Amino acid sequence: MNEKSSNTNQRKDESVSRRKFLKSTSTAVLGGSILSSLSVPPQGVFADHHDELKLALIGCGGRGSGAADQALATNDQGPVKLVAMADAFRDRLDGSFSNLAQKHGDHVDVPESQKFVGFDAYKKAIALADVIILATPPGFRPIHFEEAVKQGKHVFMEKPVATDAPGVRKVLAAAKVAENKHLKVGVGLQRHHQAGYIETINRLQDGAIGDIIAMRAYWNGNTPWVLKRENLEKQYGRKLTEMEYQMRNWYYFNWICGDHITEQHIHNIDVINWLKDDYPVKANGMGGAEVRVGKDYGEIFDHHCVEFEYADGSRMFSQCRHQVGCWNSVSEHAHGSKGAARIDRYTITGDNTWRFRGKGKNPYQQELDDLFHAIRHNEAYNEAEYGAKSSMTSILGRMATYSGKEVEWDKAIASKISIMPDVFTWDAPMKSLPGPDGMYPTPVPGQSMVV
Ligand SMILES: NC(=O)c1ccc[n+]([C@@H]2O[C@H](COP(=O)([O-])OP(=O)(O)OC[C@H]3O[C@@H](n4cnc5c(N)ncnc54)[C@H](O)[C@@H]3O)[C@@H](O)[C@H]2O)c1
Repeated sequence: MNEKSSNTNQRKDESVSRRKFLKSTSTAVLGGSILSSLSVPPQGVFADHHDELKLALIGCGGRGSGAADQALATNDQGPVKLVAMADAFRDRLDGSFSNLAQKHGDHVDVPESQKFVGFDAYKKAIALADVIILATPPGFRPIHFEEAVKQGKHVFMEKPVATDAPGVRKVLAAAKVAENKHLKVGVGLQRHHQAGYIETINRLQDGAIGDIIAMRAYWNGNTPWVLKRENLEKQYGRKLTEMEYQMRNWYYFNWICGDHITEQHIHNIDVINWLKDDYPVKANGMGGAEVRVGKDYGEIFDHHCVEFEYADGSRMFSQCRHQVGCWNSVSEHAHGSKGAARIDRYTITGDNTWRFRGKGKNPYQQELDDLFHAIRHNEAYNEAEYGAKSSMTSILGRMATYSGKEVEWDKAIASKISIMPDVFTWDAPMKSLPGPDGMYPTPVPGQSMVV
């Protein structure tokens, strides 16, 4: 047996045991969340419902502030206090602090000495807390996760967890260390905590539509926010260094965002991986920056269309698009020998027609509730592995669209190409720079080397 087929079989064996466990557990609310750490025996209680859990927020933007709010709202399980905050920029930290303090009063106790700013801020904030929220743009996630685990802290980290293969490998390595230290790790792929998704996926895995042959996943929508250099320089009354500009307008730079196939479409790609209980073996695709073109739109594509192939020969057809005025859909679908499913609408049609009619909590709250429950009951809980592998799946798709080549998983995840800056200072040399016309180069399929 060659190495590839042995890897494939190993992946399948892991899938089967994972699925068996899912069917036998009644804690459906956890979805796929505890699956990657089944071998860890519960031990070493960290906190019961009387103990106060100290929280640190790294990356005080929209989602970080939301996750901190939701972590503080787990107070019914036991006391939680936000004690430290870190951000690259003081203005972002201040805005988040005042909103959280207004809403949560005494539960936000972050004196000036525990507010940290700059590239090293994360280390100091991590040191002061028990549970760490990592919600910077994703490029920094592997560095921050590795440090949180090194310092022995529980983590909630947003998706994606990396923007390139070296970053994914760093997260996978730290995930193992976290498991050995019995740390609890949540990843912000919140569909895993959504009752309708959990029930639909369970039914599909139980054979509701027979053999699943094809899957479709979409994030076709409008363009997200953009921060124009000109406006930023007006706002701050000075020239921005290239590092600062790329960090403020982060959505459009690959090293920090991963392109929207990774930053956004990961949610839909991850649902299909969850359904398959596996990850694709290869991908081919096409894409480009066609409509959303301009100095402030950096180097990412405005559309990607990828065909992912799994080891059993089944395919996921994936599209993501940021073009205004086109067909929009954020959805996941499966097609089988006995029917079809609209997964995001929790609907199955065919031999076993069914529709989920239950109610679930807001999944953003549910995922934090589940993490804090695991911490307080010392239950094995580690979502980092599937978070990293679904991040890698979206990076694999990007490698396929940027290169125009068919790219294999094994080569992609072993890639030595780091797209991150070599140093983190405000005047650091950046790998992607604008030309004389202010435009950033975008990848050219057929010519760009990305693996
Ligand atoms: N799960 C979801 O549905 C969901 C929704 C929104 C965002 N997200 C994810 O959350 C993350 C953050 O997104 P956002 O919308 O909050 O972005 P944002 O720009 O609002 O916030 C990011 C914050 O991180 C800070 N930051 C950047 N680099 C830093 C560094 N090195 N150290 C410390 N702070 C740093 C920024 O200054 C900013 O305040 C992204 O990974 C995004 O994909 C997930």
